[in-house]
Amino acid sequence: MKKEELFKKFHDIGLVPVVKIDDASKAERLAKAMIDGGLPCAEVTFRTEAAEEAIKRMTAAYPDMLIGAGTVINPKLAEKAVNAGAKFIVSAGLNPETVEWCIAHDVPVCPGVATPSEIEKGLSYGLNVLKFFPAEASGGVAMLKDLSGPFGQVKFMTTGGININNLPDYAKAQNVLAIGGSWMVKADLIANEQWDEITRLCQEAVIKLQGIQLVHVGINMPSEKDAFSVAEEFAKLGYETLPGNSSIFMGKDIEIMKTNYLGTKGHLAFKCYDVDRTVYFLKSKGFTVNESTVKYDAKGAMKVAYFNEEIGGFAFHLVK
Ligand code: 3PG
Repeated sequence: MKKEELFKKFHDIGLVPVVKIDDASKAERLAKAMIDGGLPCAEVTFRTEAAEEAIKRMTAAYPDMLIGAGTVINPKLAEKAVNAGAKFIVSAGLNPETVEWCIAHDVPVCPGVATPSEIEKGLSYGLNVLKFFPAEASGGVAMLKDLSGPFGQVKFMTTGGININNLPDYAKAQNVLAIGGSWMVKADLIANEQWDEITRLCQEAVIKLQGIQLVHVGINMPSEKDAFSVAEEFAKLGYETLPGNSSIFMGKDIEIMKTNYLGTKGHLAFKCYDVDRTVYFLKSKGFTVNESTVKYDAKGAMKVAYFNEEIGGFAFHLVK
């Protein structure tokens, strides 16, 4: 797989479980637990003897799953991982020989960096997706924000000390491509074969990653005149009237449409951290995008998208 395609998938999935597995015979069941939890990807670390065989078994059972190798500390290990089926190579640090081997063999590589000098080293290899490790110990989101100044072209896969509680901080950071961590696939959960718990932890993380939150309710009215008379009613409750072209906002909470716009009863607007990513997520839940409603920002990222389906008679859209 080309690295551009791989990194786009990482962005959309948004989370990469970091796996340490001791017994390769559990690999397929672990892979299934992650897929069922909405995470068809993993970094299988070469911290155990079983890593190579686990990669082989996962990629054989689930060829579409994005399985890569982590803790790859030299080119020999990179070769071993790729031969086993790894689609990408990750390491905690930047080892020039490993990076050169991967580039020479057209294997996507994501070496670890924690300082500006290491980032520059990565850039000198033409790599603009780097692993930020250990993320929390190296300054976390404050460090990422500072790095976005001089290194605006770099996106990070962040791992190290991330969990369900600080996940939203990383999900909001503009220069984070995807977030990795071991909390949803802890070694003891694998050893004890707690597949349902792994699935649950993955699902919980996927939901938390989106940051979906209701921001306004849209009310359809047949005409501008009707819209303004409804606005007068809400104004009595203390809402500020903010007339726009196609609708009237009452503060931030209510949008009164001047026509019978989308939705039998009206619409609901949800904000999220990344509209493209949440569109990907909701497509996996069976929703389809109403393409004519999609708006993009200057960088080509989605900022508004309605779905074709209604929920309880309400159309709904995402907004950044
Ligand atoms: C890694 O290699 O990326 C880390 O071991 C993952 O860090 P975590 O265990 O703190 O999630």
